[in-house]
Amino acid sequence: MNPNKPATTQAISDEKNSFTLGPLQVGPVCCDPRPVIEVENVSLRYGDKTAFDKVTLDIYRGCITALIGPSGCGKTSFLSAINRLTDLIPNCVIGGRIRVDGQDIHTAESNVQALRRKVGMVFQKPTPFPLSIRRNLSLPLREHGVTRGSEIDAISEQVLRDVGLWDEVCDRLDTAALSLSGGQQQRLCIARALALNPQILLMDEPCSALDPLASGVVEDLISRLSGHYTIVIVTHNLAQARRIANYAAFFWVKERAGRLVEFGPCQHIFETPTHQLTAAYISGARG
Ligand SMILES: Nc1ncnc2c1ncn2[C@@H]1O[C@H](COP(=O)(O)OP(=O)(O)O)[C@@H](O)[C@H]1O
Ligand SMILES: [Mg+2]
Repeated sequence: MNPNKPATTQAISDEKNSFTLGPLQVGPVCCDPRPVIEVENVSLRYGDKTAFDKVTLDIYRGCITALIGPSGCGKTSFLSAINRLTDLIPNCVIGGRIRVDGQDIHTAESNVQALRRKVGMVFQKPTPFPLSIRRNLSLPLREHGVTRGSEIDAISEQVLRDVGLWDEVCDRLDTAALSLSGGQQQRLCIARALALNPQILLMDEPCSALDPLASGVVEDLISRLSGHYTIVIVTHNLAQARRIANYAAFFWVKERAGRLVEFGPCQHIFETPTHQLTAAYISGARG
């Protein structure tokens, strides 16, 4: 929520949880206060099933925003809507408006290829292509029009250095990416996303399939990337959200649809949440 815009108000109540959403005073806590992603009254349905309903939220440039909440509240669907991965799902219908860099991403003129270049995605389970380490990076670059070998090599080295993988793999770039450890595979996937020089990285529980050591390495990497990239990360690890995120958005399922309960600077969400449901979730009493 841009502090310069009027705050939205949404009411949710039932016997168990009676609460009203907003107006929230959300001040810019970091970086550039202009939102790079503006989500306005967005709902997403798969056929009859509403994944999330009427979500309004701004994502600030250069910041890390953590999406938290129990399974099934629409976090993955929310990420997928931002780079239109949802186009690939039959029966998926999106209402409302999402703007990236001021451009509505769902108009007939919007270019999905350009959007996906601007908005990279990293999944829960590392998803390297069953190819060599080198080709995991060169393939998407070639698909996006980078064809000069020297340029591909330079970008590949740079992004492998950015994710701290260069020293570990520089002498075996032609070996299978699947021979890497889980943590290395995930860092390779992050490098693959970075190779296209995105502005935004969407990360869906990027550490949850990793052992604690590898998870720590990837978490440190994500922290280092903030400022250079705008990051939206889904995490079930509240301690991690608290450590790395500037903003947090708390989702919850109500009347069988995901709702955004509360959004704000991380410190506010974790230390002085406005809504009792957020407090209950943060404390572990609910969820
Ligand atoms: N492709 C799909 N088709 C139908 N329902 C789906 C699909 N993907 C997700 N859902 C449903 O949408 C809701 C939100 O799912 P999801 O976005 O994966 O939530 P989260 O990531 O918070 O666990 C869930 O009820 C889930 O079962
Ligand atoms: Mg999910």
